[in-house]
Amino acid sequence: MNKETIKIFDTTLRDGEQSPGASMNTQEKIQIASQLERLGVDIIEAGFGAASGGDFDAISLISQKITKSTVCSLARAIDNDIKLAGEAIAKAKMKRIHTFIATSPIHMEYKLKMRPDEVIKRAVRAVEYATTYTDDIEFSCEDAGRSDIVFMKEIIDAVIEVGATTINIPDTVGYRLPFEIGAMVKEISDYTQGRAIISVHNHNDLGLAVANSLESVLNGARQIECTINGLGERAGNAALEEVVMALKTRKDVFGDFETNINTKEIYPTSRLIANITTIEPQPNKAIVGKNAFAHESGIHQDGMLKNKETYEIISPADIGLDLEDTLVLGKHSGRAAFKDKLSKLGFILEQDVLNEAFNRFKELADKKKDIYDDDLRALVTSQMSSIKQEFKLLGLQLMDCSAGLPSSAITIEHNGVEKTDAGIGDGTIDAIFKTIDRVSGYNGKLMDYKVKSVSKGKNALANVVVKVVFNDNEPAIIGHGLNIDTMYASADAYIGALNSYLSMEGLLKNRGDLGQI
Ligand code: KIV
Ligand code: ZN
Repeated sequence: MNKETIKIFDTTLRDGEQSPGASMNTQEKIQIASQLERLGVDIIEAGFGAASGGDFDAISLISQKITKSTVCSLARAIDNDIKLAGEAIAKAKMKRIHTFIATSPIHMEYKLKMRPDEVIKRAVRAVEYATTYTDDIEFSCEDAGRSDIVFMKEIIDAVIEVGATTINIPDTVGYRLPFEIGAMVKEISDYTQGRAIISVHNHNDLGLAVANSLESVLNGARQIECTINGLGERAGNAALEEVVMALKTRKDVFGDFETNINTKEIYPTSRLIANITTIEPQPNKAIVGKNAFAHESGIHQDGMLKNKETYEIISPADIGLDLEDTLVLGKHSGRAAFKDKLSKLGFILEQDVLNEAFNRFKELADKKKDIYDDDLRALVTSQMSSIKQEFKLLGLQLMDCSAGLPSSAITIEHNGVEKTDAGIGDGTIDAIFKTIDRVSGYNGKLMDYKVKSVSKGKNALANVVVKVVFNDNEPAIIGHGLNIDTMYASADAYIGALNSYLSMEGLLKNRGDLGQI
């Protein structure tokens, strides 16, 4: 029997990036898009072209790189948004514009201040204009979950008439229960009779995003919008890994359907995104949480030893998780083994980036005998976040942290010129960051500081993550630092954030003033 394919539309780079603190630089977005392509997602929503110069650039670079997935840009139903979306995806092999306008009474009256007939007119204009850039057009009725279905049918007819090929039904505020979403999807699916693909986009405010998505499949949806690790606005979106593994594991219910996802890439993708965004899935998170395959109680362990299926419905290997936490490479490992290992972890690097990563790996192997998967993930992610190293840390000296004033002396290289300066602070970290401000000439505001040990052992690496605002009107920038010495890692993280900021400078404008139409 021929199975029907459920398209997986990944919006980690768009709705996922709307998670507080999840902003990513262009290099990181390209890395994520490449991994999503390897994972097998059908459509990558690479960003919101009109949101900022950074989003536009990232979408257009992703469009040039990705060949197996469709690349999509979001656009409000405004000419300028559609134009920017169309230009951003222009070089993609397969391209989609996703345009939307709110259809619920509350959004139309208070947010849009438009009458329903004006909303239909605007939607039709947007879709018509989008067809001048591509024939793959998705239209979303924003806040469909609280919209009147009779009005939705009217607007859906109108946009299909002028070229919309996918109709998305977002439960924007995560309000609906599975049986309600199911009924809505069924009515729209029966009404449209195959004239467009029906898609769903569920938010997780009541913890129902995945359940609502699965119920939608049973009622006619053939595209699910989701994100890795369930990232997204507020409580997030439906988690891709949960949706896909439910469809795969419960063949008794979903046996007529399949997805194009290579589930063995789920775990590497989840780790890549957690490392880049620094947003760790909760430990008990389904499929990818740290404890998802841990069996703590004696009774469970006993059952597992006798037959894994007593307590395990998914094999860790199915999602690409190697529970052995293998000792991977050492001082004598060569470049080919290093490259091969990185690609298994989800990192396919350009030659120059690979060379730099290999040098850093060798430096690390001199200091640390055993290097694990997590060490390598941290090493590559910290390098990626500051791909253009305008500032480079050459030396750090700390003085008198206990009795007198904590102070530090720092030497950096800036465009080939060495500079040294010293400064004091309220604590050692404060002294380090203030000295970097003095020597670089930038003034960062520290919003968050986290330190975590990577892998195991007393000589475990310190992975420091900072979030720094360099300009009050712009989002916080993430920096990663990795070193056996926590203070050195902190200095590196702060300089990493500065380098990342400089690589995006000028591209961050416009963020924050994206009112609705
Ligand atoms: O939640 C939502 O309604 C959205 C739309 C833009 C699809 O993210
Ligand atoms: Zn959304």
